[in-house]
Amino acid sequence: MTSTLITGIAELVTNDPSRPGPLGLLQDAAVALDGDRVAWVGQAVDAPSTDARVDAGGRAVIPGFVDSHSHLVFAGDRAAEFAARMTGEPYSAGGIRTTVAATRAASDDKLIAHVARHVQEMLRQGTTSVEIKSGYGLTVVDEARSLMIARQFTEETTFLGAHVVPDDLDPAAYVDLVTGPMLEAAAPHARWVDAFCETGAFDADQARAVLLAGEQAGLRGRLHANQLGPGPGVQLAAELGLVAVDHCTYLTGADVDALRDTGTIATLLPGVEFSTRHPYPDARQLIDAGVAVAIASDCNPGSCYTSSMPLCIALAVREMRMSPAEAVQAATAGGAAALDRGDIGALIPGRRADLVLLDAPSHVHLAYRPGVPLVAGVWSAGRPVVGAAVDAAVI
Ligand code: NIG
Ligand code: FE
Repeated sequence: MTSTLITGIAELVTNDPSRPGPLGLLQDAAVALDGDRVAWVGQAVDAPSTDARVDAGGRAVIPGFVDSHSHLVFAGDRAAEFAARMTGEPYSAGGIRTTVAATRAASDDKLIAHVARHVQEMLRQGTTSVEIKSGYGLTVVDEARSLMIARQFTEETTFLGAHVVPDDLDPAAYVDLVTGPMLEAAAPHARWVDAFCETGAFDADQARAVLLAGEQAGLRGRLHANQLGPGPGVQLAAELGLVAVDHCTYLTGADVDALRDTGTIATLLPGVEFSTRHPYPDARQLIDAGVAVAIASDCNPGSCYTSSMPLCIALAVREMRMSPAEAVQAATAGGAAALDRGDIGALIPGRRADLVLLDAPSHVHLAYRPGVPLVAGVWSAGRPVVGAAVDAAVI
């Protein structure tokens, strides 16, 4: 195994809670990697000797982004639906069925190539961990196939058979299928179970039945909730003690209290509000109330077709009233917490060596320079995989 020192770091985001201040920032810092792990973090002047050294050139280094919510197993796109929305059509959950038809018709090879392209696109933008859901198959075979494909790219796979009721089935029969044979086929390939608890998709009783059956099968629950209007989803997530509930766009005071009291993480998906013209949730209000918050992309062909965590950070700062430090934390440590992963999301000795070198002197530039490709290099589990990390002149 080779050890590498990344030195010359103007600002290092460690997310180490034992260091003072937000993000556990260090100036004039260095990080030592050993194999796939972070071995040492500190001031550059105190750095240990290593096999190789890389000069960050006075730029910032942050932990890789943890995108805890995506729907990458799909075929086709819905650009026409997006264009219609931008001229006044509302977003509706029914559009999911268009993607279901295209996904069912696609070969395994086509779906695998499609996921690979999007995972690469994410990596180039600094995402080193991604959760991937099924949900565009909606048959026993197509849901299991979607999860088997997702598993080729990540351990964080989520069974979302309860995405929408297919046209040819009645809701009660479909819930029986999802909680029975479909779950049985999906469970070996999934870590999580999810449901879209929303008008036009699944109500609270149906979503509860799906999550409880999933938990019986050894999966852990998460939920799409309160995306298109107020609803029972957030309260259901609190009732079931879920680690995270995603969207949280329309919240009542009681929803905010329930999130705070249970410690359930609110995963905010600002790309969705951007792409659907729904109002942005008020992250400031949530954080000030003591709710833990994560940011993720929700990358999917319908409600939000971006894979860019830097864009989501910029939107969270500008539109959801988060500080740049809060947004960067939510997109790294927050995503790791939303996936209940203690090994990623921070640069602390022993954690996985997932690092992003920014073409900027500080993390603030991620929001300050929206739309600018600031990811200059990426290390994934200690391996240089993108840009300057690969090309870096070894001193
Ligand atoms: O997270 N809300 C449900 N599912 C996706 C959208 C899926 C689609 O429109 O294709 C979401 O926004
Ligand atoms: Fe989603």
